[in-house]
Amino acid sequence: MPEAARQDDATARVMLPRWVAPFMRPARYKIAYGGRGSGKSVSFARLLLMAAAERPLRVLCARELQNSIADSVHQLLADQIRAMGLDGWFTVREKDILGRAGSRFLFKGLRGTRNDASQLKSLEGVDICWIEEGQTVSKASLDTLVPTIRKPGSEIWISFNPDQETDPVYQLALNPPEGAVVRKVNWDENPWFPPELDAERRHMLRTDPDLYAHVWEGECRQVTDAQVLRGKWRVADCPDAMPDMDGPYYGADFGFARDPSTLNRCYIHGNTLYITHEAHRLGCEVVDLPALYDTVPGSRSHTIRADSARPEIISHLRREGFRVTGVDKWPGSVETGVNVLRSFDAIVIHSRCRHTIEEARRYSYKVDRLTGDVLPQIVDAWNHHWDAVRYALAPLIRRRMRTSTGIVGRRRRTIA
Ligand SMILES: Nc1ncnc2c1ncn2[C@@H]1O[C@H](COP(=O)(O)OP(=O)(O)OP(=O)(O)O)[C@@H](O)[C@H]1O
Ligand SMILES: [Mg+2]
Repeated sequence: MPEAARQDDATARVMLPRWVAPFMRPARYKIAYGGRGSGKSVSFARLLLMAAAERPLRVLCARELQNSIADSVHQLLADQIRAMGLDGWFTVREKDILGRAGSRFLFKGLRGTRNDASQLKSLEGVDICWIEEGQTVSKASLDTLVPTIRKPGSEIWISFNPDQETDPVYQLALNPPEGAVVRKVNWDENPWFPPELDAERRHMLRTDPDLYAHVWEGECRQVTDAQVLRGKWRVADCPDAMPDMDGPYYGADFGFARDPSTLNRCYIHGNTLYITHEAHRLGCEVVDLPALYDTVPGSRSHTIRADSARPEIISHLRREGFRVTGVDKWPGSVETGVNVLRSFDAIVIHSRCRHTIEEARRYSYKVDRLTGDVLPQIVDAWNHHWDAVRYALAPLIRRRMRTSTGIVGRRRRTIA
């Protein structure tokens, strides 16, 4: 059951998720965006119906394209009127919805309205404009609409699923005007997230974790060509151990204010690397690291490899009973480590390791700004779990490096 399900009585009575609270106060812009099934559409519909049942509101339900009323939120509003027991308060007509308090819901496609002066004029009396599927709205439509919604106290509500980073509503959400209410929200904040959608979500997490981040976690679509671990990693609920495995191995990366402190547990079976557990906390004080590490099974009984540049942290952890050893860095150690990671047939990440999965998706090579070409340099970001995994595998990485530079080979030859 998602965290938000344990909400207080007040919001439970009106059947709205907790994230909706800030949307109840007046604001010129109200923007809710995120992945599928987070309750954006139902919540906005409910909020509007509650307000329109009380006072005479003119509500414009807009989207970029509306060929027929079936494309609009007309049906959604009608369904919510019934679900909320407000049948007596509204009359649902073929093309609009009327409220007993004098409210009216209108439904329009912005592209068709844009060049129609008389239609635009009629929008000047609108109190609330709700733009649904905002990611498809063009800049031209937005630029025409915004100054048309000009009644004193009028509001513009936008709900959308992020698509491209350049989409006008996404840019508006990232750089909102002062006073705007903006909230990113995903499935885990919808207490009524349906089991059918959850099954779809889990399936996509296993089969296409890149697309998953876009569809379910509300991330923009991303070019995956630049991914450091492209084609190597997948998500699966692997067992904590397997017969004949090597490991488990533990690695930790130290962070504090800007970077998280991380710990990963992994093992090798065949030529596949399995990452079974993670610990991840931003702003974790050194004294709190033991509690963080204790969330990963076996962390007190196995060697943990970590960045040797922080001997004071290592010594604190040793005093606390952890077997931590420092791993040295050398020029090119990141690239060598990455090559070793890429030399596995596959890297399987358990679905509970949410941050490791996110980093697998985002850990990238630089991309040339002008040509879009992928460059050989790795961007120094989204690497805190991958650094931890590299440290965990440090002895193996060093051995494979010696093999690939021929040192081991030469020594073998001399012995022979
Ligand atoms: N207040 C509520 N009461 C009961 N069920 C709800 C409520 N809000 C959402 N749900 C359930 O959650 C489902 C998803 O909600 P909704 O369609 O609003 O999500 P969304 O964020 O608009 O999704 P999408 O991004 O796919 O459009 C609904 O179909 C409904 O089953
Ligand atoms: Mg929706």
